[in-house]
Amino acid sequence: MTTTKPQPPLLSGSYPLIGHLIEMAKDQPALLRRGQQEKGAPYMIKMGKTPCVVLQGPEHAKVFFQQTDKALRMDKAYQFLKAIFGNTSFLQSPESYHNQRPVQIAPFKRDKMLSYIPIIQEEVQRWLDGLGEEGEIQLVDEMRYLTQVVAAHAMMGKEFRNAMSQEFWDLFMDISNALDPYLPSNWPFPKFIRRDRAKKRMIEILEPIIKERQAHPEKYDDFLQELLMTKTKDGEQLTVHQAIDWVIGFMFAGHETTYGHGSWLMILLLQNPWYIEHIEKEMDELMPYGTQISIEHIVGLKHIQWAIDETERMKPVAPGLFRGVEEPLELDGYSIPAGSWVMLDTLGAHYSEKVYTEPEKFDPLRFGPERDEGKGRFKLTGFGGGIHTCTGKNFAHYEMKIIASLMLQQFTWELRTKDPHTVMGKGAAGPSQTTLAYKRKTLTKRTAPQATPAATGCPHMAAAQNA
Ligand code: HEM
Repeated sequence: MTTTKPQPPLLSGSYPLIGHLIEMAKDQPALLRRGQQEKGAPYMIKMGKTPCVVLQGPEHAKVFFQQTDKALRMDKAYQFLKAIFGNTSFLQSPESYHNQRPVQIAPFKRDKMLSYIPIIQEEVQRWLDGLGEEGEIQLVDEMRYLTQVVAAHAMMGKEFRNAMSQEFWDLFMDISNALDPYLPSNWPFPKFIRRDRAKKRMIEILEPIIKERQAHPEKYDDFLQELLMTKTKDGEQLTVHQAIDWVIGFMFAGHETTYGHGSWLMILLLQNPWYIEHIEKEMDELMPYGTQISIEHIVGLKHIQWAIDETERMKPVAPGLFRGVEEPLELDGYSIPAGSWVMLDTLGAHYSEKVYTEPEKFDPLRFGPERDEGKGRFKLTGFGGGIHTCTGKNFAHYEMKIIASLMLQQFTWELRTKDPHTVMGKGAAGPSQTTLAYKRKTLTKRTAPQATPAATGCPHMAAAQNA
């Protein structure tokens, strides 16, 4: 006799047609906390009419990541991104994804990664040099600016970075502001019209750059060139339009995420000055002021790495990950039907007492070798997991490490906004606007290469300089 397994229990508070959407849009973490308390994962919520099974913790994460591209599909859950970013990366079918994967990972190979370190340092140093002696900044705006110039310089090359105008980022914002998981993306809403116009103009800007590089590959050796020259498993190179989708896709995937995470990193550190002492001590020993940063410094700065990991745990910018269920799945005695969704509750799992001691406490030393609380797969999932783990994770780590270490080394900072809170952006959850006051430290040794003046300035920096 065959018995049909039950579906996971439905969380209370679901309304006809909209399900839990309103509660989700208002405060996703509160909804998931309520779900965990009321039902314990797995349980079901309704995203409109679509059932969505919420999973939590390392065991569920293992199934979530290992079943991706098998019973679970990323492209089904993130369809709404297609209208903007085309058929890149995980937005394709699993077959096409695996075919194009060599192209996706090529710009992050070790030799290429090493070449991004001096670029990141140059951009961060240029920004710090522009700060003057003392003043105030809006942290999130400045982090956004830094991630933009770093992305433009490291991914698109120095010429592009220097010629880059505000227009490029305004177009980029028109594209990402149109992201909407609920509305059909071809309806004639003003934001969709703006998005299509921006995409058209973006193509006009990027097309000649890509064509020039395809015509003269011998002249270039950087991130973009690696993307253009690497062949898929089928032996094809990207077409111009595919390459444009990739460029916009990488910028999107690595922009709001990195400035959100980087901003939280600084905020959490400034709220916990005891830990800054560990970082400063390590920097004094390993990377004194003026050092040209190398991979040895990146690897050697352990305390800042643990702070980055602790920020990922406490303030994951992707607090929940989604998949479409392609084939029925069984989990913990329940059946999850095809056509539904699953959501991995990363934020909830990161605060589980089963995994972390005193999870409410900022304590980066938990990731040190003595306690090693992050050991074991799928405990920390702020960068995803399995084959679809964030391709730009190391890039983001290098960038945040260099930004935070140079900021702390060369200035003292004070948090003026006492209680920053999480705000949901278009592609990531980051901190609300946060004011920092700063004062330059008196530093004697300076051997790092002088940064060249910026060709185009950041409006926020101009304001700081004139202050
Ligand atoms: C702090 C910064 C970042 C965070 C927290 C982050 C987070 C994530 C997460 C959670 C995923 C997996 C999504 C899922 O499984 O549903 C992901 C995937 C991805 N990320 Fe990141 N990301 C960051 C920075 C970057 C950067 C800088 C880049 C590129 C320049 C990048 C490129 C990608 C790509 C291409 C994927 C798709 C991977 C695949 O499907 O194979 N990310 N990221």
